[in-house]
Amino acid sequence: VSLITLNPRPLDRALRERAASVLPGGVYGHVAADLLWPGAPQFVGRAEGAHFWDVDGNEYVDLMCSWGPLLLGHRHPAVEEAVARQHGLVDCGNGPSPVMVELAERLVGVVDHAAWAMFAKNGSDATTLCLTLARAHTSRTTILTAGGAYHGALPWCTPVACGVVPGDRAHLAHYVYNDLDSVLAAAETHAGDLAGIVVSPFKHDAGFDQELPDPAFARGVRELCDRTGALLILDDVRCGFRIAYGSSWEPLGIAPDLSAWSKGIANGYALAAVLGAERVRAAAASVFATGSFWFSGDAMAASLATLDVLEREDGVAAMQAWGRRLWDGIEAQARERGVAINLTGHATMPYLTFPDDDDYALGELFAAVCAREGLFLHPRHNWFVSTALSDTDLDVALRAIGCALDAVVAAPGRVAALDG
Ligand SMILES: Cc1ncc(COP(=O)(O)O)c(C=O)c1O
Repeated sequence: VSLITLNPRPLDRALRERAASVLPGGVYGHVAADLLWPGAPQFVGRAEGAHFWDVDGNEYVDLMCSWGPLLLGHRHPAVEEAVARQHGLVDCGNGPSPVMVELAERLVGVVDHAAWAMFAKNGSDATTLCLTLARAHTSRTTILTAGGAYHGALPWCTPVACGVVPGDRAHLAHYVYNDLDSVLAAAETHAGDLAGIVVSPFKHDAGFDQELPDPAFARGVRELCDRTGALLILDDVRCGFRIAYGSSWEPLGIAPDLSAWSKGIANGYALAAVLGAERVRAAAASVFATGSFWFSGDAMAASLATLDVLEREDGVAAMQAWGRRLWDGIEAQARERGVAINLTGHATMPYLTFPDDDDYALGELFAAVCAREGLFLHPRHNWFVSTALSDTDLDVALRAIGCALDAVVAAPGRVAALDG
């Protein structure tokens, strides 16, 4: 396969022009190409496995995995087959199809802390439902979240406050990730009214170096919840099934009371889940949780097939091994060139920035050259590894990264800063 992407993108440009008149601001949200680099491809033509093609036909090794959902790569045959089979029976019916029960049984079997499952469509549905369940269970109101952590784009959690009124965010208080004292202090301020504490598996805030969880922090938050009766809510929407085949805090030995899932659980089909401990079952059965598409079968069939493949192929270990080789290769190439980098996060979800690159000038240059060389990644957000990535893809990725690091070293006016 040829992976040359220096071509102009006339079709992308034409679509952007049409989009500008019928989509507000052009393409909105996290997929807006202005967040990549000038001239980045906005529109995707097709995708297969670990590769995708922009609308102009340029091919890329995909290190974003559609921002997480593609755990097994695009259009995985086992998933597509399961979806086609379910679709031939019923997708959006007057009630759920049997796959809903099968999937709930499966998730309860796979995820240690889970005694039951509820389904929805997006990660924001799942995190929001977790807050509702914590309040229903405790009859209290305050929820703690880490300052700057992303839990979705609804008014209570969107990072952009435009259109949000203070009431939307009432009854929320914040702590600093990995700083147990800050959690204890916030809990003390809201003593008697603490319904839940939301934690991310690791600190994966976009635009900041990532931080793995301090086990003492995770244990301390769990103990605080045990002591106060507040529920520990793990937002596994982004990390789910990339860090562990189970909840992402299982390797730490910490069981949340509720976990929120979406993104990868159905390999690109729209599905979210809330998994919960036995003690939250009564509250979960009491709230009114529903949506027009929340019971649709195709995505649930996709999820069952995704879990089958992950299990059969030890997919989590495969992603971690590939990600580790990528990580080591990046570090080695940066060292060889004397380029200072910040490579943080988890092997399956790495994040690369350059020191003092506050305006992301170097990050954008790096990502643009990677794309020119056939590797798609993001300058401002963590990347995602899938099981579809091959040894050849690793070679392409490391060669592209080498070219991109060369470009960073050559960037006028920045060499001194890098040398220093
Ligand atoms: C940690 C986390 N929680 C929640 C969400 C919200 O998910 P969605 O965009 O599907 O609503 C995201 C999405 O990126 C996320 O990364």
